[in-house]
Amino acid sequence: AASTRYEAESSPAVCTGTIDSDWAGYSGSGFCNATNAVGSYAQFTVNASAAGTATLSIRFANGTATARPATLTVNGGSATTVSFEGTGAWGTWVTKTLSVPVSAGSNTVRLSPTAAAGLPNIDYLDA
Ligand code: GCU
Repeated sequence: AASTRYEAESSPAVCTGTIDSDWAGYSGSGFCNATNAVGSYAQFTVNASAAGTATLSIRFANGTATARPATLTVNGGSATTVSFEGTGAWGTWVTKTLSVPVSAGSNTVRLSPTAAAGLPNIDYLDA
């Protein structure tokens, strides 16, 4: 089926930080610049037509030379670690695809950094 785009700046998505638009190339009206601290997050509400494995594509930019690893949880379940490597510039957006288990209906997908450097900037999630 065609995927749905969930913009990080659009409710019911949650960004614990600011919605910024100062780096070009984002989709929609901006991106999530979550506070650079453990415990911050970018959260999406992802609808799934059936329980099973969903393919998520997360678009991000990390203008530093250091990866910004994060945990990805679905409905508060077990965490998958995602390495958001440097993309070369804050205006260079890269899409990372991974597979996660989802329930039928709405799913809370949360990205939260494992280190104080925080998350990369997050543009959207396609699912
Ligand atoms: C810079 C950049 C932000 C980014 C931040 C960071 O301030 O302008 O978009 O979020 O670095 O290090 O997270």
